[in-house]
Amino acid sequence: MSHDAVTEYAHAKVNLTLEILGKRPDGYHEIVSLMQALALHDTLTFAPAGDLTLRCNVSELAVQGNLVLRAARLLQTELGVSKGAAITLEKSIPIAAGLGGGSSDCAAALRALNRLWSLGLSLEQLTDFGAKLGSDVPFFFHGGTALVEGRGEKVTPLPSFPFYWVALVTPRVLIADKTTTLYGKITPSEYASGKATRLIAELLLRGETVDASLLSNAFLPVLLRENDAVRACWDRMQLARARQVLLSGSGPTLYSLLDNEEEARSIPALLMGLDAEVLVTTTTSLEEIPGILPDS
Ligand code: C5P
Repeated sequence: MSHDAVTEYAHAKVNLTLEILGKRPDGYHEIVSLMQALALHDTLTFAPAGDLTLRCNVSELAVQGNLVLRAARLLQTELGVSKGAAITLEKSIPIAAGLGGGSSDCAAALRALNRLWSLGLSLEQLTDFGAKLGSDVPFFFHGGTALVEGRGEKVTPLPSFPFYWVALVTPRVLIADKTTTLYGKITPSEYASGKATRLIAELLLRGETVDASLLSNAFLPVLLRENDAVRACWDRMQLARARQVLLSGSGPTLYSLLDNEEEARSIPALLMGLDAEVLVTTTTSLEEIPGILPDS
């Protein structure tokens, strides 16, 4: 690799809460959510080049519509950049899973190209470019624990949620145009006030403990009634009775927060016979960048 190449890590997230307040005139939904960064991450490298190219260990992602290439093209057109970049994307985060992988890759690309092309953009300017590319992108310029509002673009960093081991269970289901489809299935009965999320934010700000029973996600009832594969994984995870089973983003990834590695590593056995990818990772605060922990 060239000495001048830039490497960036794109961390996954889970939604500790996700409340939907209602539909907005612009077609998006107003949300209030607590997002938490995970140790699990993709790795991107950017080498100087005349053209813009993307190589990826998951070949179907090396396409023009990839948010990494869209981020690069946006910077080129908006700022009149004529340089290119040879980009490699090593995916570890499950794809279209509710873990923010594509959005995090996009934020990582904006950070990396700011360095590679010496653009001198501030974090605020990078965040604005990110928000143009996807609602979840701005969170990934902060990481750690944050309150996320609006359509996702308003991010308020919070004191770290306590450290947990995290067992991620991603049922292998294909939902076409997943995020749009699932927002489309939300009914007013799933709308909430945002109060539950704001209460947790308050507790974190006051340094108080947060009980896992306070965590929730508006998409969970939708996925449980619409998708048998998600329901089967959810039922099976209930066997680990000690822990609440939560949903990340618009799914289909289910997860549990666990106190120790042993508990986390006991989750894969529960899913035996079901078509799901199981990963064990941890939460991560802003300062830590531990590597992905291998599947058990
Ligand atoms: O912003 P992003 O491209 O990730 O959003 C994909 C789709 O998800 C939007 O077109 C919209 O249908 C839906 N969405 C929404 N409300 C949000 C975020 C996304 O309705 N807050």
